[in-house]
Amino acid sequence: MPEEAAPSTTARQFPEDFVWGSATAAYQIEGAAGEGGRGVSIWDTFSRTPGKTLNGDTGDVADDHYHRWAEDVAHIKDLGLDAYRFSISWPRVQPGGSGEFNAEGIAFYSTLVDALIAEGIKPVVTLYHWDLPQELEDEGGWTNRATAYAFAEYARRMAVDLGDRIDVWTTLNEPWCAAYLGYANGEHAPGRTDPVAALTAAHHLNLAHGLAGRAIREVLGEDANISITLNLHVNRPADPTSELDLEAVRRADAVGNRIFLGPLLEGAYPADLLADLAHLTDWSFIQPGDAELCRVPMEILGINYYSTGKVRYAEGAGRVPEGEIATSVLVGVLDVEGVPVPGPYTAMGWNIDPSGMTELLVSLHATYPGQALMVTENGAAFADEVSADGHVHDADRVSYLHDHIDAVGAAIEAGADVRGYFAWSLLDNFEWSFGYDRRFGIIRVDYDTQVRTWKDSAYWYRTLAATSVLPA
Ligand code: NOJ
Repeated sequence: MPEEAAPSTTARQFPEDFVWGSATAAYQIEGAAGEGGRGVSIWDTFSRTPGKTLNGDTGDVADDHYHRWAEDVAHIKDLGLDAYRFSISWPRVQPGGSGEFNAEGIAFYSTLVDALIAEGIKPVVTLYHWDLPQELEDEGGWTNRATAYAFAEYARRMAVDLGDRIDVWTTLNEPWCAAYLGYANGEHAPGRTDPVAALTAAHHLNLAHGLAGRAIREVLGEDANISITLNLHVNRPADPTSELDLEAVRRADAVGNRIFLGPLLEGAYPADLLADLAHLTDWSFIQPGDAELCRVPMEILGINYYSTGKVRYAEGAGRVPEGEIATSVLVGVLDVEGVPVPGPYTAMGWNIDPSGMTELLVSLHATYPGQALMVTENGAAFADEVSADGHVHDADRVSYLHDHIDAVGAAIEAGADVRGYFAWSLLDNFEWSFGYDRRFGIIRVDYDTQVRTWKDSAYWYRTLAATSVLPA
């Protein structure tokens, strides 16, 4: 039904307490990679390895937010946002990922949090946005069960030090990317290409969430808002009338979505997923009681949404010969392949399809009726240009944001309990393997001068945040 839901032709009023925010992540904006006692992360190692990122870009300097955080907080205030979602760099606060904590790193975040609160901006924290301490990777990274326990200790310490000043504690950002892009197709750090390693990583990330959520709850009690951010995939069948393509959708949904939703929200891995991938693994890395451990009551489920996908049944697809690279993020799923999706597209090559946002939020609400949701990321990269007047007239981004926020409104109207929306991103930043080439910011960053310039989308978003009325 939501696929056909027509965009509204009248202005849309959002609930009074709806949270308007914007988001960033530590490695993408902070820079100061060698300062303040920060340790080395897998993204430092990966991006400094020739050929891994576009133009060899690294996050060494990025937006220099480590030094310019006060200016960035002032921008958030001027935008009139209710909340700011940022991530803590684990190696900045605990350089080796276990053992000693780094007081200077913790002080950086503590000061940032105080500054946000002083301006009436709610801090929404992500504890893991992909920058694993390299020392932990050297011990196997997310394929090592001990990493989940180390993560919980780090989370506990953050809860102690930042305590009740944090509005929402998001354990992980997009574990799908951390596991599959990091360990299966090698596009992200640590750049491994082993499907079983990726499935193992996915489980240990789920476990890390459960252990960390419990640790935070132990420190802060029932008042803590625990969350995780998932990038769930809206997979559509290439041919909706084909039983086989519908079966392909089921398989893709199992490995891409329910591998996280099952343990995190239901305390169990889906039986069909375990069966689908039995040719690859006996799943013995899931110990008895683990799936239940992954589940902690969550006040908010964060959703990052950008585009939709299409799959079809294709005999022979997904069979990775021994020793070859598992290029597909479908990680060993047999006889399923992605097919091109019609445009229009953003500069990432992702299709623009706001209906998927409504569909996803409404279907999550139907499956997990009591679960509050929050759109923790949504936005678009476009080839921005600075006009002669010095402005960035990013009408394409304004239109993308408008249509997706409208789609969130449609989901709320259909009954989904969506509490807020965070535009990705506050600033242009280091777009992982695409380096600085792809710009997602509503604020432009000139990487030569570090000057920040509001794009038209920032002005537009400010009006929306002030009024909570989305124009038709
Ligand atoms: C999701 C990730 O969380 C974020 O780091 C990334 O920049 C955006 N998607 C855009 O790709």
